[in-house]
Amino acid sequence: MCGIVGYIGNKDALPILIDGLKRLEYRGYDSAGVAIIGDDLKVVKTQGRISDLENKLKNEELKGSIGLGHTRWATHGVPNDVNAHPHLSESKSIVVIHNGIIENYLELKKMLVKEGRTFRTDTDTEVIAYLIEEFYEGDLLKAVKKTVELLEGSYAIAVMSKNERDRFVAVRKDSPLVAGLGQGENFIASDIPAILPYTKNIIILENGDIIDVRRESINVYDKNLNLITRNIKRIDWRIEDAQKGGFKHFMLKEIFEEPDVIREAMRGRVRDAVVEFPELNISLEYLKSINQVYFVACGTAYHAGVFGKYLTEKYLRIPAQAEVASEFRYRDPVIDEHTLLFVISQSGETTDTLAALRFGKEKGARTIGIANVVGSSVTREVDQVVYIHAGPEIAVASTKAYVAQVEVILLLIVYFAKLLGKLTKEEESNIVNDFQKLEEKARSIVLRSNEIADFVSTTKSIEETFYIGRNLDFALSLEGALKLKEISYVHAEGYPAGELKHGPLALVTPNSLVIAVITYGPLKEKTLSNIKEVKARGGKVLAIAQEGYNTIEEVADRVFYVPKVANDIGPIINVIPLQLIAYYMAEARGLDIDKPRNLAKSVTVE
Ligand code: F6R
Repeated sequence: MCGIVGYIGNKDALPILIDGLKRLEYRGYDSAGVAIIGDDLKVVKTQGRISDLENKLKNEELKGSIGLGHTRWATHGVPNDVNAHPHLSESKSIVVIHNGIIENYLELKKMLVKEGRTFRTDTDTEVIAYLIEEFYEGDLLKAVKKTVELLEGSYAIAVMSKNERDRFVAVRKDSPLVAGLGQGENFIASDIPAILPYTKNIIILENGDIIDVRRESINVYDKNLNLITRNIKRIDWRIEDAQKGGFKHFMLKEIFEEPDVIREAMRGRVRDAVVEFPELNISLEYLKSINQVYFVACGTAYHAGVFGKYLTEKYLRIPAQAEVASEFRYRDPVIDEHTLLFVISQSGETTDTLAALRFGKEKGARTIGIANVVGSSVTREVDQVVYIHAGPEIAVASTKAYVAQVEVILLLIVYFAKLLGKLTKEEESNIVNDFQKLEEKARSIVLRSNEIADFVSTTKSIEETFYIGRNLDFALSLEGALKLKEISYVHAEGYPAGELKHGPLALVTPNSLVIAVITYGPLKEKTLSNIKEVKARGGKVLAIAQEGYNTIEEVADRVFYVPKVANDIGPIINVIPLQLIAYYMAEARGLDIDKPRNLAKSVTVE
């Protein structure tokens, strides 16, 4: 998730690029850079924000009317000056910016190194620049076409050559890219807001499109370089709305990004019929030596850990615990070198989580970080790190990061189970099969968000909310309740469904709402009985149930059906309606959804 902007015209490119990058900074903000062709091709880039780039540019002369700009959210290689985009080819005649992940970059890099090429950065992007140079015979368009034939993964790429000063070329696959048409000038951007002040005439590019951008024209080609036609859309959004992709809040935008996040988190990890983690270096001997597993984290990330605990015991048959990081180091947990400690954190900077990580390491545990922000403190201090690749999360309430955390945790457990010989090839291939359908199933849920909004409009008088479920549905209940509390300020508790009658049932009245998560197959009938207990006390029940479980309609006031998925995979998508309930409750109450009172995105105090 990075920001891309490109300009070709008769004006000075630099102010237009910087202006566009500032409006894209919400997409990535660990480093930034620009490349401009004037008398020569020049690149200026730096770690830090766009303001840091502007400071650096004060000492540089960067004149020219064609250029590319980039703001980075690191995926490969820590955020520093060298890994910042744009990236040059070996002879420095080609320059590239890129958003996305090239899955096979290591193979391609090895091939180029064998041919004698020397690389300067840790990024996957540099490989693209080197390949284009390899194929370049005077026509940038043809060289890009040949290069993308070799690339696996997701990308929006823009490229310039200092030998062709009247064009740049861009291409997209699974990463957003738009082109903007002006008078004697044209633009590209990863997101519309970057270029909205300059043009309202936008072409939204589709997967596989390659574009040749010149001052007077933009030609769109398919992957075989056949000219194709794409409609020009008139965009009349305000810039603030456009930054949220037309959504009213970042939180809703981020929920709607979840289908893409699901795909990105499994990229390079779910292939053909196997699950793998090329970035992990774990020996079978070590795996066999583990005798307990901890998941430590805070808030939403802790709830992802609860899911991890259930599945570790199920698949690996190793005792597992999920523990709130702020408690972990203040008791005296049993930890030694046979302990595996998963540290989960979106930001990678949460003080309590970092302290728990240091405590665990000191006691001899081996640590694996599950993080989103590349180069963050957690990722630097753990023994090994697995990224969730959810992209920047702007809303304070964590949504898409939770989805990716749960997904990556499940994939890790499946991978370890396979290495330990506790999973057959057939079981692994069934899981892979289910994963491959997950993105579409998630999309089908977000597209029905109006059903949730409609239900929530009937809950105005609600004073007390319980989320109940069993097993993995209980783990989801905890997260559903937290989301509701933090953004809608309605009191909510997540409870194991069977525990309600041991106390909280006393609070259930006609002004109570019980959200029953009833997707975990083996325990459906048990939860159904608990729902009947609530109904007998006059409580209102919304059930989040799996498609096909129609008996529930006889008992619950309202049912939201989620698509059928294997029990252990379900939570990855079944959390979506819970996030939407919280969102619409907060919206109905007119609250500041992206910045709820008293809360911060990154909690760096104890
Ligand atoms: C809830 C939320 C918080 C965070 C928690 C941990 O929506 O955002 O509960 O999950 O503060 O943050 P990270 O994952 O950054 O360590």
